[in-house]
Amino acid sequence: MENITETQKKKVLSCIQPSGMLTLGNYLGALKNWINMQEEFDCTYAVADLHAITVRQEPAKLRAQIYSTYALLLALGLDPEKNTMFIQSHVPEHACLSWLLSCYTQFGEMSRMTQFKDKSARHADNINVGLFSYPTLMAADILLYKPDFVPVGADQKQHLEIARDIAVRFNNLYGDVFTVPEPYIAKVGARVMSLADPTKKMSKSDDNLNSYVAILDSKDDIIRKFKRAVTDSLGCLRLSEEQPGISNLIGIYSAVTGKTAAEVEKEFEGKGYGDFKLAVGEAVADELAPIKANYDKIIADKGELERLYREGSEKAERVARKTYFKAMKKVGFVL
Ligand code: TRP
Repeated sequence: MENITETQKKKVLSCIQPSGMLTLGNYLGALKNWINMQEEFDCTYAVADLHAITVRQEPAKLRAQIYSTYALLLALGLDPEKNTMFIQSHVPEHACLSWLLSCYTQFGEMSRMTQFKDKSARHADNINVGLFSYPTLMAADILLYKPDFVPVGADQKQHLEIARDIAVRFNNLYGDVFTVPEPYIAKVGARVMSLADPTKKMSKSDDNLNSYVAILDSKDDIIRKFKRAVTDSLGCLRLSEEQPGISNLIGIYSAVTGKTAAEVEKEFEGKGYGDFKLAVGEAVADELAPIKANYDKIIADKGELERLYREGSEKAERVARKTYFKAMKKVGFVL
């Protein structure tokens, strides 16, 4: 039973792709906010598995990653009772609405998506139509649940923008079908850069394993990676554009400890980079340790995991189906 305060909460939706190991960048940039938002908002969170096949995936690996991503969301402390947490492909309305929306999306506007241009340059041997039309699937993910807010990082802003454009266009033709969502800019959030090349974003697809910290890395690995983090020879601990490595570490340390950059600079005044790197490594490892411990328990109980994602999908589909049928009816389909 939903109570009144639940239904009055503003709605938030976000999804994460199950591609590879989730990193400290995913955690500090997005997932940590998902945890904060579950108190204030009515949240819908999905593992966006349909999105993952725009690049070729090995079946066994993809399956393991879908499980693992869902388990990790639980391990972070996201509550499946409070939120709607599901696996995208279990709710067929996503793919169905995506088709509908693709007929209200212009080839020209889709061609402007910078992520498509980047990804097709990187996967020149597999520039499939799904990679091109991916933003209509993302628009469907969003619009089905009528969220007020969608938290997105810089790389997804353009996709949220097109989802909003499609919603407005559809509403102008057929009346009030979709809610036009606002981007949600988190109060805290960090853009975490690569530990090996701090001018690049931290990425799980980086060939250099020392460039990123996975959420499930061991304490030893985390500390080792921070010790090796690329810095500079200025010997000065300050947030500045000339010191991308040190600035990245300051950003990470303040995101984890809640201290401001100025407080961090003060704390390590007169100390060497070595001490600072060790402190960052330890703070990160301490923050991630309970998540890893939770994860190990959750992933070991496949039965319970399955129960939770099935329940989540049923909850999600009840909402998705309503929006989908309303859109179908407006267009003129026989229901
Ligand atoms: N495209 C997003 C990414 O690659 C993931 C995603 C899929 C998403 N559907 C979404 C994010 C809906 C927000 C809302 O990171």
